[in-house]
Amino acid sequence: MIESRPKRGSFITFEGGEGSGKSTQVSLLAERLRLRGIDVVTTREPGGSPGAEAMRLLLLNGVVKPLGPTAETMIFAAARDDHVQTTIAPSLARGAWVICDRFMDSTRVYQGALGSVDERIIRTLERVTIGDTIPDLTFILDVPVEVGFARVSHRGQEKDRFESEEIEFHIQLREAFLALARSEPKRCLVIDASQSPETVATRIWLAVVERLLKLGAPQTMPRAAS
Ligand code: TYD
Repeated sequence: MIESRPKRGSFITFEGGEGSGKSTQVSLLAERLRLRGIDVVTTREPGGSPGAEAMRLLLLNGVVKPLGPTAETMIFAAARDDHVQTTIAPSLARGAWVICDRFMDSTRVYQGALGSVDERIIRTLERVTIGDTIPDLTFILDVPVEVGFARVSHRGQEKDRFESEEIEFHIQLREAFLALARSEPKRCLVIDASQSPETVATRIWLAVVERLLKLGAPQTMPRAAS
């Protein structure tokens, strides 16, 4: 007897500095994919599952910072572990597409490149928490730091632990994301996010069509029953 098993969905992540417009682009892309009948799950990090959202509060309100960069990295990893196990992997397995606002590259850049946490620690934690749940496509939304800051200041909310860093931190952050994109050109695509949200969304959509949809949207594949 032949039984159907859904093909794994595609996994897309968005990365970038403050005010790069990630959350807007996550929503616009999800909307476009849903119009094509694709089951889409949108999520974010830190957070994305009840356990990880609890850890998000501690990470962003500054409670974890005094413990030092290595401990902070491990708490980001603990949150990611729960998020992957309970939200991302099960969604992909049932054939849904997952779009995540920040993922492993944020740890590589914020804790690794800028926080000086040893790359071996970061890679080891990645293996443990992510395994083979690696994004198929990562958009790095790139904006000049002044543009990002101006956008964030219009939000009028209190700054979180990372938004309060000095401007030099954000300049280095931008450079670190660009360097990461250069080191993994197959997975990462840098998008000029200083343009209008519609223009950015069109660029992103073209990349999704070219890199993921032309390979075939999720569908059922035959599997022999055991
Ligand atoms: P968030 O409010 O989600 O901000 P943003 O709109 O910039 O995504 O805050 C997430 C913050 O956490 C952000 O400043 C980046 C930081 N972060 C890390 O330092 N390491 C990580 O692994 C992740 C996922 C986020």
